[in-house]
Amino acid sequence: MNHSLSIKHNNSAPAAQESVLEIWGRASLKGHVKISGAKNSALAIMAGSLLCPEDCRLRNVPALVDIGMMGEILSALGVKLERIGDTLEIDARHLNNSIAPYELVSKLRASFFALGPLLARMGEARIPLPGGCAIGARPVDLHVRGLQAMGAEVHIEHGMVHAYVKGTLSKRLKGAKIYLDYPSVGATETLMMAATLAEGETIIENAAQEPEVTDLAGFCRAMGAQIRGDGTNTIVINGVPSLHSVDYPIIPDRIEAGTFLVAGAITHSEIILSPVVPDHLIPVIAKLKDIGCQVIAEDAHSLRIVPGNLLATDIETLPYPGFPTDMQAPFMALLTLAQGNSAIAETVFENRLGHVPELNRMGADIRIKGNMALVRGVPILSGAPVMATDLRASAALVLAGLAADGKTTIQGLHHLDRGYENLEAKLQQLGAKLQRVPIDAESEVESTSEVTTELSEVSH
Ligand code: UD1
Repeated sequence: MNHSLSIKHNNSAPAAQESVLEIWGRASLKGHVKISGAKNSALAIMAGSLLCPEDCRLRNVPALVDIGMMGEILSALGVKLERIGDTLEIDARHLNNSIAPYELVSKLRASFFALGPLLARMGEARIPLPGGCAIGARPVDLHVRGLQAMGAEVHIEHGMVHAYVKGTLSKRLKGAKIYLDYPSVGATETLMMAATLAEGETIIENAAQEPEVTDLAGFCRAMGAQIRGDGTNTIVINGVPSLHSVDYPIIPDRIEAGTFLVAGAITHSEIILSPVVPDHLIPVIAKLKDIGCQVIAEDAHSLRIVPGNLLATDIETLPYPGFPTDMQAPFMALLTLAQGNSAIAETVFENRLGHVPELNRMGADIRIKGNMALVRGVPILSGAPVMATDLRASAALVLAGLAADGKTTIQGLHHLDRGYENLEAKLQQLGAKLQRVPIDAESEVESTSEVTTELSEVSH
């Protein structure tokens, strides 16, 4: 079965596996960059569209590999999707399958978020366990325990989570009081979606407060769900029998915005970003100030980064409103060039320091001690061939490459394409010197010395 038949992408992300990104560092950046819709909101909201028996229109959906993959998973469940520009039309009227295919789920952990809405809508769902990933084990016990509290039977067999509502004719989940041992973003989203169609009231305590959770709650409310308390650590959902059609814009991507703020700081350049929600960036802006940069609100939806002399600082990643784990790698790239010693503690994921050896290849001085990275600032990085190990690690290497002396060549671009829409084009527009080249062409390029000219003519 060709799941992609019903999805029409007219601006999908470029295929990346066979390409490398070459960056000639130390160019000054200048100008305005447009921030795309939030990947993590869009993924959760696409899963949430399974709750809707009428038309869903999502606007400001970024063209990313992960979004395409989530589209394929929905297609496999019987959903019709059509993409026109940054709008995604979703029709989940006729779900004909409650089993998500392993080959798709194994590539995208967020596809596990389909479990809650599928179960709520169809009374049954089978989703393969997402498995481990490059940044840690990432179990799903909190999702499962919460659904069990809502009356679901859940069996995990042969790598598959089989959840169903037994007994009642209506096959509806029952509202419950759920305390999450950890404020997991994914578990909060799964349970909030499941609770929208459950009988009675669900209270999720120690819930995640991330803006993407709030965005999903806003989307569900726009379909008629009764949810309050999102954005705090207690979310209350009163189940309704069914939901209705919706037209909903996704929030701007705070992690992409944070990455461009760091791009300004690391290249000593002034950049303006919009649209953004400055409140979503409070911990990131606070750290940039500690590091010696200013972030000025131009208006309610635009920020300007004004660079300064980089100073060391300490960072601890935490659930929102703490410093986001997704910004840890980009900030580490920045702190490699700060004056003094910085300590970065990664507390959210157990294995998210894969960028450290790669940054060290570029002349950084970073030591790992448990979940801590101890960064001793150096005056300059030097371009080198490096390998991206996960999405945010790849962003860190791009940032380091922008600041480094000489040429940096980044492999493993499929990670980058999962989460940054048109990153090269956006950076080129700001004046960065970079290009994506096929690996074969890269070996040819190595043998010539005239590649630094006409970079902006490279198409993507
Ligand atoms: C989401 C984001 C990801 C971000 C992360 C933390 C999406 C698609 N991805 O991931 O970019 O880095 O939030 O902000 O939205 N955990 C458990 N049991 C569970 C669930 C999670 O132990 O049932 C643990 C995880 O292993 C991890 C921690 O909780 O150590 C945080 O995970 P979680 O908040 O669930 O992250 P995701 O939703 O996977």
